[in-house]
Amino acid sequence: MAIPKILWRYREAIVAQLEDALRNGGPLGEMLAYHMGLREADGSPGAGIGGKLLRPSLVCFSCEALGGEVEAALPAALELIHNFSLIHDDIQDKDELRRGRPAVWKVYGIEQAINAGDGMLVVALRRALDAEVLPGTRRLAALEALLSAIYRMIEGQVLDLSLEGKNVAVADYLEMARKKTGALLGCALELGAIAAGKDEPRERLRQLGEVLGLAFQIRDDWIGIWGDPEVTGKPVGNDLLRRKRSFPVAHALERDPALAELLSRDPIPLQEALARLEATGAREATEKEVKRYAEEAVGTAAELPWSAWAQDEFRELLSFLVEREA
Ligand code: IPE
Ligand code: IPE
Ligand code: MG
Ligand code: MG
Repeated sequence: MAIPKILWRYREAIVAQLEDALRNGGPLGEMLAYHMGLREADGSPGAGIGGKLLRPSLVCFSCEALGGEVEAALPAALELIHNFSLIHDDIQDKDELRRGRPAVWKVYGIEQAINAGDGMLVVALRRALDAEVLPGTRRLAALEALLSAIYRMIEGQVLDLSLEGKNVAVADYLEMARKKTGALLGCALELGAIAAGKDEPRERLRQLGEVLGLAFQIRDDWIGIWGDPEVTGKPVGNDLLRRKRSFPVAHALERDPALAELLSRDPIPLQEALARLEATGAREATEKEVKRYAEEAVGTAAELPWSAWAQDEFRELLSFLVEREA
């Protein structure tokens, strides 16, 4: 699958900002650089910034689509916030691998990884504050949008953990996913409008980002259960074994309530659980749901004051995201 334009056009500028933001040395700076892929745990140079840079790329895109000038400091700040959430998320989810490498907590221990996440958040907020191209009021608006999104994302993480092992309905799942993943994606599109100095479409863009977030997270859930371990770098059925209430599980529980007993066993019989999910049609339903939100996003985007190039690129991005394998 070809990488969509939105994901490569701004990459170099964002990477330069991230490298600059992460120049601090010392034990804290080293953990941050390790997480981002800039160095290895033994101090040798890393392979470079990992991740798709989806959120900062969306900030740049959203700004340009409204006729604004792109400056990469604010987008980089959002990427650092995303990475703060990932460092803590891997501790919370007991995930040993992130982007195919040992998670920060596996290398430095849980206690220090909590410090690393905290440090990443502060580096992020400082970068947002230093976004010099933004005049005063716009910078304040950007910081406010970031703070609201961080809080909402954390609310989503709280819900995610509190739903583990529970008998959740799809509606509970959707509320959680809209927050944990939708918040930062909504913020990305909103920040683009703030940077472009366009207030009117801010709310619509935020909502569009949340819908995009739902499509993105439900696809992520699909990958977490049916993804190829060679591609995902995570073991088969990882999310199922950790009792995560993903979209497929919430869907299956609504149709096969007795599945709850199977999923409460210790250990969970993976093959049997996978077969039960298949039998409820969870796999097709998950694929359909991703498509449905992706189509909703394209429909909403069509109403925005974006020119044809922006509409085309947004559609291209969505087709990529709904089919991604990692
Ligand atoms: C992973 O996000 C966490 C989710 C919200 C599903 P990404 O898939 O954007 O992660 P990277 O940054 O590209 O690795
Ligand atoms: C992603 O959480 C959302 C945040 C980190 C805020 P997940 O736990 O669903 O994502 P992965 O699968 O670990 O990337
Ligand atoms: Mg996780
Ligand atoms: Mg998680």
